[in-house]
Amino acid sequence: MCGIVAAVTTGGNVIPDVLHGLRTLEYRGYDSAGIAAPAEDSLHLRRQVGKISALEQELANNALPDTPTAVAHTRWATHGPPATRNAHPHMDDEKKIVLVHNGIIENYAELRADLQERGHQFFSDTDTEVLVNLIAWHQKNGKEELHDAVRAALKEVHGAYAIVVLSAKTPDLLIVARMDSPLVVGLSEEGSFAASDMPALLHLTRDFLVLENGETAVLRPKNVELFNAEGVRIERTAIRCDWTPEQAEKGGYPHFMLKEIEEQPDVLARTAFDRCHDLTGDVHFEKEFGFTDATIQSIQRIRFMAMGTSLHSALLGQQMVAELSAVPGETLNASEFLYSPNLEEGQTLTVILSQSGETADSLRAMREVQKRGGQVLGICNVMGSTLAREADHLILTHCGPEVGVASTKAFFGQLTALYLLAIRFGRAREKLSKEQGQELIHDLRALRPKLDVLFSSEAAERIQKAADFLAQVSSCLFLGRGFHFPLALEGALKLKEISYIHAEGYPAGEMKHGPIALISEDFPVVAIATPGRTYEKMISNMEEVRARAGKVVAIGVAGDQRIANQADYFLAVPEVPELLSPLVNIIPLQQLAYQVALKLGRDIDQPRNLAKSVTVE
Ligand code: AGP
Repeated sequence: MCGIVAAVTTGGNVIPDVLHGLRTLEYRGYDSAGIAAPAEDSLHLRRQVGKISALEQELANNALPDTPTAVAHTRWATHGPPATRNAHPHMDDEKKIVLVHNGIIENYAELRADLQERGHQFFSDTDTEVLVNLIAWHQKNGKEELHDAVRAALKEVHGAYAIVVLSAKTPDLLIVARMDSPLVVGLSEEGSFAASDMPALLHLTRDFLVLENGETAVLRPKNVELFNAEGVRIERTAIRCDWTPEQAEKGGYPHFMLKEIEEQPDVLARTAFDRCHDLTGDVHFEKEFGFTDATIQSIQRIRFMAMGTSLHSALLGQQMVAELSAVPGETLNASEFLYSPNLEEGQTLTVILSQSGETADSLRAMREVQKRGGQVLGICNVMGSTLAREADHLILTHCGPEVGVASTKAFFGQLTALYLLAIRFGRAREKLSKEQGQELIHDLRALRPKLDVLFSSEAAERIQKAADFLAQVSSCLFLGRGFHFPLALEGALKLKEISYIHAEGYPAGEMKHGPIALISEDFPVVAIATPGRTYEKMISNMEEVRARAGKVVAIGVAGDQRIANQADYFLAVPEVPELLSPLVNIIPLQQLAYQVALKLGRDIDQPRNLAKSVTVE
């Protein structure tokens, strides 16, 4: 997804700060970058295909004038190939207005044809260039104020957008607007800022206004005016982001993904420990959770929905909640929900999980549930995100910003939150006694020190050996049962999305129903085989693989010789209660994918074709 960073400040040269913010957004994936600034009644523009470093080189060769105002952008191509002419920012054909955009303007072709008939010229393949010329047209035809011209143009637009607009005539003013693509406004004594998400501005401010769909804002160095969809001035309290700038930086790690894998023990503590009440054996969420024991007792079933990695934690959450509270559930791919029959919601609670809180498929599913009269509980990592604001109930995970495209600590944070939810529901529905709740909380607190062994040099050595082997294969199968079937899916997704090796996750019970035909010495299996109700059958599956010359990478409890004997590569994990084993077993799967991708020289934090937040369907 595209990245936006813009600033209008009281003085000095804002370009270094804007470029710093743009680099923080690199994880979103992009193919070109650009920046624009006003000077002497005109607009100056620098754009480059490739990484931000290429833009910085261009600026070194052909500097922009020092400026207190600038707009910058990283482009993830939707209309038109990666090319300088298609890079943002885009100017109108008279070079009086410049605009950056994240989203898709669905009716851009008709708008472009109309504007061409009115004499406008176009130099790119983008929908964005159409919008900036439409604004320019309105400014020349009755909407002299830039804000009015932007609002008039947006009335003609269908689609998703987050935009920042700057005019040469009003160099100390930015207009921002959003519809379905995220945009935040940062506030400080030194100026006003806009960005696609908060980490891009943490070096400048921690205070933010979040725009809702249809809203616009006028940013000046000393103040921000917010307007609702009808153009009426509104007031909104700023939110204080508790993330630090360092959390949005790599902090000496070679990749964000490695840093985020290693942050997981802290994520456990930050997401869970203040919510666990040992005396009562219960869990207390913040007021945004909004459920009483009575409303929890009235719920007859739970529908979990998400995409990608969050779908895998949803599958696990369904099992955890059923295990502790006996509430039946189902898990759906959010994009598929839209095609499901519109049945009576009844006493169904929908839980939607999304790290970013901006995934278009998941947001569409949430709105569909609400349209059908259902209630939505959001589990999300980004305060102020669309999911966090529009869900009827909310649990925030406290993972800090997750920058690597491959989700790791956010998955871990989701599992932690789901474990807490399962306890809360179990206690509210009197399926768990106080003592049982106390034991579950004790197990969770005891988990944190047990995770340390997964980051030992011995563990790293085992991972490396398995990674050296897997890096040579072209395809492999991840197998798990019960709680570990979603882990098999997640391990396969991690490997495929950052190493580009084809990998499939399967319930191990399915193997003899087809996948076993694939097993050969060139087609290995990663098996998750820690103690629990699926242990014996997993051993059988591993024997079946080896009987067909298939190699096995197994995750098993340290010292478990039965598993070690069935494995060509044995990844040892500490023994924990079965319900918590997914929070342990996922870590070697993440580390394995990371080391394979590293060995293959992949772009680990920004894998090809992927974006961190999929804000288009
Ligand atoms: C996972 O590593 C991927 N980045 C992707 O599948 C991701 O989980 C999915 O797009 C959902 O994102 P969300 O959690 O922000 O909704």
